[in-house]
Amino acid sequence: MTGKIYSASTTAPVNIATLKYWGKRDTKLNLPTNSSISVTLSQDDLRTLTTASAAEFFDCDKLWLNGKEESVEGNRIRACFAELRAVRKVLESANPELPALSSYHLHIVSENNFPTAAGVASSAAGFAALVRAIANLFELPQSPEELSRIARQGSGSACRSMFGGYVAWDMGQSDDGSDSRAVQIATQEMWPDMKSVILVVSASKKETSSTVGMQTTVNTSSLFKYRAEVLVPQRFKEMSEAILAKDFETFGRLTMMDSNQFHAVCMDSSPPIFYMNDISRLVVGLIETVNKIYGRVVAAYTFDAGPNAVLYYLEKDEPIVLGLLKAVMPDVDGWNKKPNTASITPTVPE
Ligand code: PMV
Repeated sequence: MTGKIYSASTTAPVNIATLKYWGKRDTKLNLPTNSSISVTLSQDDLRTLTTASAAEFFDCDKLWLNGKEESVEGNRIRACFAELRAVRKVLESANPELPALSSYHLHIVSENNFPTAAGVASSAAGFAALVRAIANLFELPQSPEELSRIARQGSGSACRSMFGGYVAWDMGQSDDGSDSRAVQIATQEMWPDMKSVILVVSASKKETSSTVGMQTTVNTSSLFKYRAEVLVPQRFKEMSEAILAKDFETFGRLTMMDSNQFHAVCMDSSPPIFYMNDISRLVVGLIETVNKIYGRVVAAYTFDAGPNAVLYYLEKDEPIVLGLLKAVMPDVDGWNKKPNTASITPTVPE
């Protein structure tokens, strides 16, 4: 069968949390136990490009990721498809002249512009791009904030990739997740001299997925409750204010403290979860030493659910940070000069 194919393409960026999301209060809806904050990286370096197509003659939903066909039967993808189709249906009911895209099958083609082996979590950019591409295809009038609520159901952190710059994910209070969505704290342009670099310590897949890791922590860690109920709410306020004030000292200090605290609750879980390795700890030591020598926060490190480091620093300190990294890791190259950009460095041998 043939017929018209409707298509729309979009890109979405990777984001790296500086105040980590760790723990779900509802695993189906991806509702978190704490609010979080992230910095969106430049799309020149890390982004997902996704095309969504719909046609009456497509006989099933399909998804290709980096050229390989993947299942669309997962609950998370299904949840995003269902929500977006429901919103489109409302639009079609109000405008009967529109093609009935909500009832057509979807074909999704998605490509990352960074090597899969880079060891950088791609699900945030992936689900953000998927939701935005289908929303564009369906010509949905929903705001990025509203779409972030849908992307959240694909992967929690994906809701923050609906925006550039500095982004907060408000955990919300409701049981249905209607108020658990991302909002932009500040644009990237607001803090043009902020820079970032990713140090790829290991490109291998993490041993404990974030979904399994989070629930192990929620169910077994005694430190976790203090983190979610006391520390994160305090830091959320302080970090938002530091971003708006362009106060790098406070932003960097909180970023490092939160990364360390997040890895402490992972270790406090049973069985304990270890995401950082010896090279990660070497990077922590280096940055702590440089900051001590200079008597201020020159660079801040953060580690997600894996051993790779992301460093934040101000442009004026680039010679110090890159000089140090080059001295310790001489093979590193490809530094990017734009604000908030990430450079993927060659893997450091373990
Ligand atoms: O959204 P997920 O399930 O990939 O979990 C992300 C968890 C962290 O990356 C460790 C923290 C965060 O806020 O992104």
